[in-house]
Amino acid sequence: MKALIPAAGRGTRFLPVTRVVPKEMLPVGSKPAIQLIVEEAVAAGADEVVIVISPEKEIIKRYFDGDAELSARVRWACQAEQRGLGHAVLQAAEAFAGESEPVLVLLGDALVSGEAPSAAMAAISRAHGNASVVGLERVPRERISRYGIVAGVPEDDRTLKLTDLVEKPSPEEAPSDLAIAGRYLLHPDVFALLASQPPGHGGEIQLTDAIRRLLSTRPVFGFRYPGRRHDIGNPGGYLETLQAFA
Ligand code: UTP
Repeated sequence: MKALIPAAGRGTRFLPVTRVVPKEMLPVGSKPAIQLIVEEAVAAGADEVVIVISPEKEIIKRYFDGDAELSARVRWACQAEQRGLGHAVLQAAEAFAGESEPVLVLLGDALVSGEAPSAAMAAISRAHGNASVVGLERVPRERISRYGIVAGVPEDDRTLKLTDLVEKPSPEEAPSDLAIAGRYLLHPDVFALLASQPPGHGGEIQLTDAIRRLLSTRPVFGFRYPGRRHDIGNPGGYLETLQAFA
């Protein structure tokens, strides 16, 4: 399995430190957050990890170039202009040319405490003939408009077959309270869809919009994973992350 970590975002919610320190490099114990994410990918079976950075975030590359013990090959892609998560994923397309297996996508600023979701998602994907799977969490109504929200038909207590996805809906428009939560296993068709994806919410190229189009040709499942997701991309979320990992 191959993994992809978008880590090229500007990190405006964590200024001023992110002027020089990428949020993905903030320490959780003695390791930068992104190292824990790479370890989650490797534990789920990834033998190659492609990290998308911007020219300002070269320090991430310097960090991994110094790690001889990592049991996966790390490759690099560059997003020069921050045009959204979907656009960041698209910049890594070349590294996945000719692939037919789903790609594990882990957001560089999302850590999960407790059971790691990636390995369980890979198992669900295999059980459904290498289908795409998105990690989900329940969110309170007042936070629904911050996330991509899904609709689907339940398969069991934690798994559903998706019928729709909407990026940042109002609570009235939202089809459920299940939010896409930082982990994805995506059929490589998603790269071609992203290449023709017009800007969506906020004028950014949205990964959620491309997955919505993927749904019309390929099955996509949702998995409400048992671990707890933490957003290290803002000071409050970062403090919660440190408490959870302490
Ligand atoms: P966020 O949605 O947290 O966006 O990105 P951001 O731009 O980094 O942060 P703010 O809103 O300015 O504070 C989620 C993940 O996607 C990456 C980020 O690095 C983060 O790991 N991302 C986001 C990109 O790689 N490129 C983008 O254009 C946007």
